[in-house]
Amino acid sequence: MMHMGGKILTGMAGLAALAGLMMTAPAALAADWTGMPMVAYPKDNAYSPAKAELGKKLFFEPRLSGSNIMSCATCHNPALGWADGLKLGKGHNMGQLGRHTPTVINSAFSSAQFWDGRAATLEDQAKGPIVSAGEMNQDATELVTELSAIPGYVAAFAQVFPGEAISLDTIAKAIATYEREVVSDNSAFDTFMRGDATAISDSARRGWDLFRGKAQCLSCHSGPNFSDGRFHDIGVNDGDPGRGKVSGKSGDQFKFKTPTVRDVTRTAPFLHNGQEATLLDVVKFYNRGGDRKGSEIKALGLSDADMADLVAFMKSLTGRPVLVTLPELP
Ligand code: HEC
Ligand code: HEC
Repeated sequence: MMHMGGKILTGMAGLAALAGLMMTAPAALAADWTGMPMVAYPKDNAYSPAKAELGKKLFFEPRLSGSNIMSCATCHNPALGWADGLKLGKGHNMGQLGRHTPTVINSAFSSAQFWDGRAATLEDQAKGPIVSAGEMNQDATELVTELSAIPGYVAAFAQVFPGEAISLDTIAKAIATYEREVVSDNSAFDTFMRGDATAISDSARRGWDLFRGKAQCLSCHSGPNFSDGRFHDIGVNDGDPGRGKVSGKSGDQFKFKTPTVRDVTRTAPFLHNGQEATLLDVVKFYNRGGDRKGSEIKALGLSDADMADLVAFMKSLTGRPVLVTLPELP
């Protein structure tokens, strides 16, 4: 499911390589399959093991929240596919959030963060939930004061960000570095694509043919991460304007970011509002052409057997399991 920061490529070469791979045309998927590309670290937030370790502590740190009982991992729980298993997220004082909690798996490969892409980077994203009243409800100044009173954090920040004060920026940089280690690859499907025809079931093979053929899933769930990094209207009928509210463009109304389908078996329920309980329910949603006319999805005419094959294919995209240990907090 994950691999720990072993594959590191920095600078423009890395970013260019990533961009190239993410835009791989569907036809090119079959040739020279290497699975997930290397994680690209931004120039102004390079990888170091100490930074990732500090970021891991902060990701699991309940004192990051105003109530001191909610961490990032409360909602992005590694035991629940780095999500929360709920239809809609629950925030400060158990208040219900407007959207389903997405996984952070492979978020290193997203062109933008959140269902509507309103944060450009993982660094920008991390600051949002900490200070949001509905989520962690923390005062940024108070948080810096609190962390500055914990000797273990003072020492760790001084080592990782020499000459910089503890701030929301350095907190976010450390967390983003840790998140970039949460990668799913080496699935049975990857083994199959590298030439082992027996790695996946016959049903999953038929599902792969449907995924890139009759069911047209690959037109959006493309590239090694099975996401084109773009925004689409798939016909969810709940009135959430999605990308349209962020960009202000009428053409973006009801569009959401294409999520990865790697490890998707681990993160039910599905879609930005959690409306579909199972992967079969998601496939049925597509098969009926979505729930609202005028979207990008047309009814597919798939049989029950076809739909079961598509689910078997998506199951083959679950990565090899990796043990996630909990950090000891200072
Ligand atoms: C109260 C639950 C909750 C907490 C706490 C929380 N998140 Fe989230 N997270 C969400 C929800 C809900 C969304 C989706 C919101 C949206 O798209 O509008 C989200 C989105 C994200 C995304 C975007 C993923 C994607 O595919 O676009 C990342 C990354 C993320 N959170 C990381 C974090 C980090 C880091 C923290 C701690 C600093 C954190 N979250 C704390 C619920 C939570
Ligand atoms: C037009 C682009 C497009 C096509 C075609 C498409 N998808 Fe999606 N897919 C998306 C977008 C965008 C979302 C998120 C939409 C939302 O939550 O409102 C999504 C969500 C999903 C999810 C839920 C993931 C999660 O974490 O909640 C699954 C599973 C999925 N798609 C599988 C498929 C399958 C299987 C097909 C083919 C039958 C397919 N998709 C066709 C764009 C597309």
